[in-house]
Amino acid sequence: MSTLPSEILLYDLHPSAADIRSDVLDGLARRPKQLPSKYFYDARGSELFERICQLPEYYLTRAELALMHTHAPAMGAALGRRALLLEYGSGSGAKTDLLLQHLPEVAAYVPVEISRSALTASVAHLSERFADIPMLPVCADFTQPITLPEPARRAARTIIYFPGSTIGNFNTDQAVRLLTQMRRTMGRNGAALIGVDLVKSPQRIEAAYNDAAGVTAEFTLNLLARLNRELEADFDLGAFRHRARYHPERERIETCIVSRCAQDVRVCGHRVHFAAGEAMRVELSCKYSSESFAHIAERAGLTVSHVWMDAEGLFSVQCLRPAGTPG
Ligand code: AVI
Repeated sequence: MSTLPSEILLYDLHPSAADIRSDVLDGLARRPKQLPSKYFYDARGSELFERICQLPEYYLTRAELALMHTHAPAMGAALGRRALLLEYGSGSGAKTDLLLQHLPEVAAYVPVEISRSALTASVAHLSERFADIPMLPVCADFTQPITLPEPARRAARTIIYFPGSTIGNFNTDQAVRLLTQMRRTMGRNGAALIGVDLVKSPQRIEAAYNDAAGVTAEFTLNLLARLNRELEADFDLGAFRHRARYHPERERIETCIVSRCAQDVRVCGHRVHFAAGEAMRVELSCKYSSESFAHIAERAGLTVSHVWMDAEGLFSVQCLRPAGTPG
């Protein structure tokens, strides 16, 4: 387990046990039942997600890293100097490393990440690589209002970095809300750099979420192990299975945990019944075309100023600015 250098202070706004409890009980009371995917990322979940990123079927990370290798200099030039780089869902930090190499005179780096272990590991690594960039890590759920730490150096602009196609884990209305919140945070002369997975053959997409080694299934079911530990639940992991299907008409993967039999589970003192074959939705992974992404950006008052895309059209990194400002 990584530790942060002593001069780096972690702002800990991690969701409390009460937040998790109320989100989970709320989701279990819905019909169909659903649970928020943000709770995948405990220490084990973050570790499994890093393994997913290396899987042969999971093209997203490789495609995005290749784009960063090729285009980070152009991205840095488009984004400008003395930026405060605010990253949502910072993950392992490999793409951030490439961006930081090409962003001139960064005023501060503020990663906001719900997984304390992933945040600590990435900041421990990045602070060694970029000793002159002040780092202000925040452990928090970035979908909730957060008071961000003030950097000591004055920044000329705020750049929001949101890689990994995490925007795809929100439905359209939630994505528009999140982009609107980003527009307010970045201000008039800021920008957002967002990793967006693109619509492609359903087979290719489905394979990415149903890997042959079963790592994604383990990642999905780890959510139940977390609830057993943190909410005194008694899910029998062997009595549930992972299912991820692509819905071409909705252009999204829907991942569910399916009950293998009729069963009752206790969660925080409540008895919850699952019918045989009942599916509980735990994640959406939306895929976009250039047009559909430009459309949600527009609904949030943003304009797409640059798109970097690979030759196969697998993945894109898009720069968004407040509508009506020069690109
Ligand atoms: C983090 N997020 C963008 C991943 C995705 O592709 O939706 C999470 C994931 N779920 C299963 N595999 C990867």
